[in-house]
Amino acid sequence: MNCSRVLSPLRRSVLRRFLHGKPQIKINGKVYDEHPEYTNVSSTVLNLSDRSLHLKPAHPVGILRKQIEDKLNSTSNSFQLYNNFRPVVTVEENFDSLGFPQDHPGRSKSDTYYVNDKHLFRTHTSAHEVECFGNIQEFCPKVTSKTPTEKPGFLITADVYRRDEIDRTHYPVFHQMEGARVWRRSAEKCADGQEPLHIQKMRHDLAKLEKQLREESGNLVVQDDVSLEGNPKQSYMSDLEVDLCSQHLKRSIELLVAQVFNKKLESMGCKKSEAEFQVRWIKAYFPWTTPSWEIEVFWQGEWLELCGCGVVREQLLLNAGYDKDSTIGWAFGLGLDRIAMLLFEIPDIRLFWTQDERFHSQFREGQITKFKPYSKYPGTTRDVAFWLPQTQEASTLSPIHENDIMEIVREEAGDMVESVKLIDQFTHPKTNKKSFCYRINYQSMDRNLTNNEINEIQENVRRELVQKYNVSLR
Ligand code: PHE
Repeated sequence: MNCSRVLSPLRRSVLRRFLHGKPQIKINGKVYDEHPEYTNVSSTVLNLSDRSLHLKPAHPVGILRKQIEDKLNSTSNSFQLYNNFRPVVTVEENFDSLGFPQDHPGRSKSDTYYVNDKHLFRTHTSAHEVECFGNIQEFCPKVTSKTPTEKPGFLITADVYRRDEIDRTHYPVFHQMEGARVWRRSAEKCADGQEPLHIQKMRHDLAKLEKQLREESGNLVVQDDVSLEGNPKQSYMSDLEVDLCSQHLKRSIELLVAQVFNKKLESMGCKKSEAEFQVRWIKAYFPWTTPSWEIEVFWQGEWLELCGCGVVREQLLLNAGYDKDSTIGWAFGLGLDRIAMLLFEIPDIRLFWTQDERFHSQFREGQITKFKPYSKYPGTTRDVAFWLPQTQEASTLSPIHENDIMEIVREEAGDMVESVKLIDQFTHPKTNKKSFCYRINYQSMDRNLTNNEINEIQENVRRELVQKYNVSLR
């Protein structure tokens, strides 16, 4: 994509301003210089960035957050809560500090909303791991943190941002909860022949968790993956440490998943003793954890991915200011929106963002209740077909990323777009020109749309495609 030709996506935003002719953006009270090649944040995203749905006590995302926090803190009160981190972070925080390679696809402008070359809208809550690990006072001797905590773990909930497709489960903003826990290592051998203190502590913490799981979640069936083949341990940790740390991580996540889904089963009138449900652990890869896994739950006939996690790489702890060989720990990142959709039976992710009282009045703090659709408004589809510009076709790179099309529709239609799908694609045999056809389904969650307003939006989408990417409409 030729960025220099692309107009700023913020052309209509009230948040855009100029200083000595240089464009700047104001986000949550802070001013950032735009960058001619990097800035791709849209006004849609800017306008959503101060909503903090996870802090609303009677919003499905807020209810779920509170429920998980209470559960994880119920046994040990070990987790410091962070719920107010601002969405703009540095490239260093989001990628570099976690060991993402320079060519990782997550860094690309087609996937991530950049404010400028150094700042972006966080793509995950892991962006705050280094800072929060650094706040754990007892563990982090070098850094004098501004917000020290005594607790050996933390939970961070926040809105995260990714450029993505448009359909009922994808929205440019969604929510994650990051969890982490550390243990300080003591000398390998104790004088009286006992195991080192941290091993005793880990065994104790794990036993508590296992007891709680047995008592509360006898209906949970776990398919574990304990082999470390292709999922290596770190050399500074003993096999026993890796085993205890991994088990504590897995059992903590199982506990929170079990409680969330058992609450749902209960609200559906199922008895826990009769309603088994399954989860499975699968090997995964994240640059800052090893070994790493994902957990999936089998729900209504489908395996649903819930959460990535792993044993934290020592480099991350060193980045946070820890002493070498001093500490071991785990981290996870849980997606909240899909779970909330399933628990509250919400058919379209856009509903989370509606301001309609008919949505909000349905939910109560601390309760999982089934969403009652207030009315289904009809949708209308419109197709847009175009040839890619000739000059760009020779290049091997895709000249327009599909997410760029999604962004244009999102900017023009806001929450009136339900989905956008590629329905046809071909290359002309003689001219070698490439054609694409996208089908846009316009449908509001809150009201009927008129033909006139849809036509106007569709015209704007077509005009923007031509202006930004020089396509020839068909
Ligand atoms: N941040 C990761 C994601 O968004 C999840 C994760 C968090 C994985 C912490 C490992 C440890 O996919």
